[in-house]
Amino acid sequence: MKLEGPMVCRRRGPLKGPVDVPGDKSVSHRALIFPALAEGPSRVRGILDAGDVHSTRRAVEALGAVVRNEGPYVVVEPPERLREPEDVVDCGNSGTSLRLLAGVLSAVPGLSVLTGDASLRRRPVRRVIDPLRHMGAVLHARDGDRLPPLVIRGGGLHGARHALPVASAQVKSALLLAGLFADGETTVAEPALSRDHTERLLGAMGVPLRIDGLSVTVAPGRPRGCDIEVPGDISSAAFFLCAAAALEGSEVTVRNCGLNPSRTGVLDVLEAMGAELWVANRRDDGEPRGDVTVRPGMLQGTVIEGALVPRLIDELPVLMVLATQAEGTTVIRDARELRVKESDRLAVMGEALQAAGARLRLFDDGCEIQGPTRLRGVEVRTRLDHRIAMSMAVAQLFARGEAVGLDDVACVGTSFPRFFELLDRLCGGTT
Ligand code: S3P
Repeated sequence: MKLEGPMVCRRRGPLKGPVDVPGDKSVSHRALIFPALAEGPSRVRGILDAGDVHSTRRAVEALGAVVRNEGPYVVVEPPERLREPEDVVDCGNSGTSLRLLAGVLSAVPGLSVLTGDASLRRRPVRRVIDPLRHMGAVLHARDGDRLPPLVIRGGGLHGARHALPVASAQVKSALLLAGLFADGETTVAEPALSRDHTERLLGAMGVPLRIDGLSVTVAPGRPRGCDIEVPGDISSAAFFLCAAAALEGSEVTVRNCGLNPSRTGVLDVLEAMGAELWVANRRDDGEPRGDVTVRPGMLQGTVIEGALVPRLIDELPVLMVLATQAEGTTVIRDARELRVKESDRLAVMGEALQAAGARLRLFDDGCEIQGPTRLRGVEVRTRLDHRIAMSMAVAQLFARGEAVGLDDVACVGTSFPRFFELLDRLCGGTT
């Protein structure tokens, strides 16, 4: 299925069957970047094969790593020393690539420039510039240090203590990575726990970390190469799980789904709203995983706020869709960060769902949705944001056969190239 240009969605549920989702995007970025800094090669299985991860792969190659596909593995051979990239590093649509690499490049002597597509060039970078400057790096960015491109003169870092104003795994990870090259320890404290894939993978690669409540301390050192198994991406699974939770007659099992507790907020919300949900075959090889099955229930509105928000931040667009199908009021708060993702997801989802007939009120940091509502067909601008496209494809399932038009679906290729194909399969074919 071609992922470019406009697409008309016109499917009917229910969703039925087992499905494998692609590798976790957050873990996949880390499974290329950390091995590129390591002593000795690493082998990665289950890595996400999609645009954002390709951006990271090209970036670590520009730094001197050799990355090759070997059967089911991607093998990463690190250079003796990271080298100054010969050209501007283009991170495409990927905020995680840009922010994590900002931490690494702050330690690489020489000059580097990080940029991205029109969406990424609208996303804030001061959140990494300020703390990395505090460690001795020299960084500059466009529009008064607010936006990419980001120019870095790396080297000579010293350890520091950082108290982050918002929970952000990208910022935390950038600082911990810079800390590996600093002299002295680096501590990052967060106001709430953001995803902890960095801590888990650095630990598995032999880097001593001290975790004390919401703060992590790293000492300078080089990770050891290792074998990495990437679990399925719960953020990709969420589109199918949320659809199944509200479409009568559905039953979906996502096999090998990542179940890191810092990512499972969506499952907690599905249960709280009344969906039937269970997990089989739980295993844990650094990242917990298992087979998640969801069946519909009598969905009720719920409240999503506080420490739950970082545990489901990327699932909020599709949870907004689900809230339109639940009885009563769903309130989302403390989610201002949604405004600085690949698009302003609160505004874009709010507008698209209202146009589809949802009863929805936006706040600066969230929204309130009254349900249940029978949605209507609508034309949606996806704005270079994969999760808007996929969430509105799910919304169409609640429009009883009316079509949802997506103006450009190329963005879906950044995280989930086979999304529409798998959705068709779960729906038993396009109608
Ligand atoms: C990510 C962290 C989150 C998340 C993003 C991936 C990561 O962003 O929204 O999709 O891999 O570290 P923030 O760190 O900006 O919250």
